[in-house]
Amino acid sequence: MSMETPVLETDRLILRPITLDDAPAVQKYFNNWNIIKNLSLAVPWPYPDDGAESFIRDNVLPSVEKGESIVWVITVKDHGDEAVGVIDYRVDGREEGNRGFWLAEPFWRQGYMTEAVTAMQDYIFFDLDIERMIVMNIHTNEGSRRVKQKNGAQFIGTKELEHREGGSKTEMWEITRESWTAIRKKA
Ligand SMILES: CC(C)(COP(=O)(O)OP(=O)(O)OC[C@H]1O[C@@H](n2cnc3c(N)ncnc32)[C@H](O)[C@@H]1OP(=O)(O)O)[C@@H](O)C(=O)NCCC(=O)NCCS
Repeated sequence: MSMETPVLETDRLILRPITLDDAPAVQKYFNNWNIIKNLSLAVPWPYPDDGAESFIRDNVLPSVEKGESIVWVITVKDHGDEAVGVIDYRVDGREEGNRGFWLAEPFWRQGYMTEAVTAMQDYIFFDLDIERMIVMNIHTNEGSRRVKQKNGAQFIGTKELEHREGGSKTEMWEITRESWTAIRKKA
């Protein structure tokens, strides 16, 4: 299976492979408690000044290079080529791939992540022919849960994983090619 990151285009977005040049934009938008509070303790807080640059250089790009993840930055056509979010698919030795996503706060509640997820899931399930993906969120994260529920996720249980805001009850979901196909047929 090829794990290259293709450019994906939707009505309002272009998803393109992340590069080190995206570090300043990622630093600007990701360094935000309203984003990081929803993430696991793997993400440092306070966020270091070189957090984006070192994470992209030392974690993201090597993982992409090894074929263990696909990582897109999200750009909004009306807003130019600036990275305003990230969506990824990671295998990293796990049996099933996981997805992560975040969007810059000024762009929330406009349907952008749903649009990005649609393009990402079309690619994962229909082009790469992946059968099943696991996705998670801290139970207080209504936005992330809603994006999942709208896009084929079925609840499979909870697990304990400490998150930055303090809680640890983490919801687990699976999204299958079958559930996604059913949603795309209705669209
Ligand atoms: C979660 C996140 C990606 C949502 O992105 P978004 O572009 O605002 O989501 P959308 O506009 O596509 O919204 C999809 C649905 O979720 C709902 N939604 C979005 N944010 C919400 C929130 N904070 N509370 C409740 N519902 C929310 C929308 O109303 C929409 O539902 P609807 O179509 O029924 O009205 C964004 O809020 C974010 O980056 N949060 C911080 C990082 C994060 O939590 N990442 C995920 C970790 S698991």
